[in-house]
Amino acid sequence: MAETTKNATLTIGDKTIELPIYSPTAGPDVLDIRKLYAQGDVFTYDPGFTSTAACDSTITFIDGAKGELLHRGYPIDQLAEKSHYLEVCYVLLYGELPSAAELESFESMVTNHTMLHEQMINFFRGFRRDAHPMAIMTGVVGAMSAFYHDSTDITDPHQREVATIRLIAKMPTIAAMAFKYTVGQPFVYPRNDLDYASNFLRMCFAVPAEDYEVNPILSRAMDRIFTLHADHEQNASTSTVRLASSSGANPFACIAAGIACLWGPAHGGANQACLEMLKEIGSVDRIPEFIARAKDKDDPFRLMGFGHRVYKNFDPRAKVLKQSADEVLDLLGVENNPILQVAKELEKQALADPYFADKKLFPNVDFYSGIILEAMGFPTSMFTPIFALARTVGWISQWKEQISDPALKIGRPRQLYQGETLRDYVDIEKR
Ligand code: SDX
Repeated sequence: MAETTKNATLTIGDKTIELPIYSPTAGPDVLDIRKLYAQGDVFTYDPGFTSTAACDSTITFIDGAKGELLHRGYPIDQLAEKSHYLEVCYVLLYGELPSAAELESFESMVTNHTMLHEQMINFFRGFRRDAHPMAIMTGVVGAMSAFYHDSTDITDPHQREVATIRLIAKMPTIAAMAFKYTVGQPFVYPRNDLDYASNFLRMCFAVPAEDYEVNPILSRAMDRIFTLHADHEQNASTSTVRLASSSGANPFACIAAGIACLWGPAHGGANQACLEMLKEIGSVDRIPEFIARAKDKDDPFRLMGFGHRVYKNFDPRAKVLKQSADEVLDLLGVENNPILQVAKELEKQALADPYFADKKLFPNVDFYSGIILEAMGFPTSMFTPIFALARTVGWISQWKEQISDPALKIGRPRQLYQGETLRDYVDIEKR
């Protein structure tokens, strides 16, 4: 725990309470209110946790004002440029850049655990063909706790490590199988001679009828998308994983809970919602109509891919993705993609509009990712599964950090109760 540098004094009625303030290595000071209810007989009230630190962590730091994202201190733009996803996984999981030998050993472990228990194929067959791949992933990942019993004991560090490798290794296989199932094509098994991103692309797009060669520029773009989605402090799905794990639930159940939360359009589902919005806009001349709707208090419509709880500047991941979008679409010869033109013009007009500038609503990670994924041949229904695949290492890293904290307590928030006070039951004859 950070050092106490000073106290805050809170006066409630005739009570004066001293609350310690901690100074982190980066970010705002933190007021420790753990003794507030015992000493002051009051709760704090913060429904969206806009002002609440739910844990201490050493993994990822975001400076929302600067638009900075650090993983173990390394800035995301440097990692996206110089590193690759499995090395970023190592950094998130173990805290330091690996040596060449450490990286080779880690990558070999992941490569050799990419196959899914063959009997789990039956789970896929239980879904309707038109099931959303996120529904399939939530179900199959939760079901892993029924197949991998030897890595569900969270008190055993070895089993925690085995569960970590299994989840990171098998998520691409599960996501690809969910895709294949919904398009009615046979599952494609992983290959050990391919890197992580190439393996995923091949499992998604190869068919038995012909050979499939992975385009190295597309696999590099895929790997970069994984890196940019790897972890992001205590976002909604990570907080879901932490809350689930605080009860002692097994890692597969916790990650399945994270997948379920990520699915929402306000969170990881925004990449699918954003591309569907760009398609609905359809052409640059309809942009003003949609910007007006986004500003209209009486219209629930929001610009998908814009705004963020923490970033009040450009999301640094959006900057990298914007560059990747240009590269990938140029490679595919679709640089004149009308959707990309709409996205760029929408960004330009929104950022010039006082409403968005005043509320500091900038493009976020979901604004450009969908354009790249669609250009690569993915249906919009696969956008959030790809986000879930990439974020698994973040969920697992945060889960490991929490589960190894000896001071861990079960998460159990209180409430501001505004319901009925005590009253007696009335028999139906008297109502
Ligand atoms: C992700 O937490 C993370 O780190 C998430 C994530 C990660 O990596 O894990 O970064 C991934 O989820 C990115 C966000 C993807 N979601 C979207 O793109 C959906 C559209 N965005 C909004 O729903 C919204 O911006 C949120 C949910 C992202 C953030 O909402 P907040 O912080 O709760 O802010 P808010 O809803 O209170 O909005 C503040 C104001 C409101 O206006 P007022 O009531 O103050 O007048 O800004 C407005 C909102 O109406 N506003 C928008 C808007 N987002 C906020 N108006 C129009 N369009 C938008 N997109």
